Amino acid sequence: MKNIGIVAVGKYVPERIVTNHDLEKVVETSDEWITTRTGIKERRLARRDETTTDMAIEAAKSALDGSPVPAEGIELIIVATASTDSNFPAVACKVQSAIGAKNAAAFDVSAACSGFLCAITTAKQYLTSGMFKTALVIAAEKATNLLDWSDRATCVLFGDGAGACILAPVEEGRGILSEYLHSAGEFHELLYVKTEEPAQLEFNTKIQKPAIVMQGQELFKVAVTSMADAVDLVVEKAGLKLEDVDCVVPHQANDRIISAVAKRAGVSKDKFFINIQKYGNTSAAAVAIALYEAVEEGMIKPGSVVVMVTFGSGLVTAANLIKW
Ligand code: UT7
Repeated sequence: MKNIGIVAVGKYVPERIVTNHDLEKVVETSDEWITTRTGIKERRLARRDETTTDMAIEAAKSALDGSPVPAEGIELIIVATASTDSNFPAVACKVQSAIGAKNAAAFDVSAACSGFLCAITTAKQYLTSGMFKTALVIAAEKATNLLDWSDRATCVLFGDGAGACILAPVEEGRGILSEYLHSAGEFHELLYVKTEEPAQLEFNTKIQKPAIVMQGQELFKVAVTSMADAVDLVVEKAGLKLEDVDCVVPHQANDRIISAVAKRAGVSKDKFFINIQKYGNTSAAAVAIALYEAVEEGMIKPGSVVVMVTFGSGLVTAANLIKW
């Protein structure tokens, strides 16, 4: 069985920073509420003319910068996004064209906040089977496009950005050692994007802008149990112990969720990489950006045992364990 690992990482975040104080001018909220309830201090906001694809391309270029595999050597591109700029073509095809990855197959996956890990798991299966040798996996979100800026319960939580990684065969004992992927479709109404069904529209009706609807408290509980149990599961599946884990890169939805996951999973919170204070919840891109920064800041080094874990709409939970 081939070992597949991550050989390069990349990220892109838009320049514009929106602080909690900026949001105090938009909705009835406070820096104090947002900070204590979520851990978020600021988030990035894409330019009006900056698309999910633009951010995906920048993250891809960033990953290619440090990659042993050049663009022409990429055989598969998967983009995870819940905020695509048009129904088709896939963002991945536009990335392919922009980076000159002429020899690749390209498509998108939709799994909201768990999209990046779903895409990594999907790519890994293609690489393990031998159908493709290398893959570029990107998560890109213009989540702020899906916000109702008058809904303080959701508009303070999300931000824009993108992350990427390149998968390729690695030496034995290294790479992705275990994975977990599960959906609890029965809870799909806890977090969704509300759009009007076109079939129900009267002629000439103005179509409502899509907006995120969330039942935060219910989600919180499922997020904690699902992610904590997924961490334990991938560690056990890899034949390792919790003490062997050097770094956990979790979905960045709420700092209080991360604390509760650490406690329930039995892994010290010091081992969790957290950047929610800077970016808020960037959906699929959150764990991708965090992975890049954990490597950049030296929390992940060659030989580190890394667990990535995500949770989101669907409800989809995903995790993997990587020997870096
Ligand atoms: O990424 C996908 C996965 N996402 C998640 O897993 C999110 C999980 N949920 C959460 O992280 C938290 O539930 C939230 C951050 C969304 C909300 O925190 P909470 O502690 O559960 O707050 P709450 O919804 O229970 O609201 C508490 C109070 C309410 O006021 P009352 O009814 O107690 O008077 C809200 O109206 O806080 C109020 N509130 C706000 N106040 C100031 C809600 N949003 C705001 C706000 N500013 N932005």
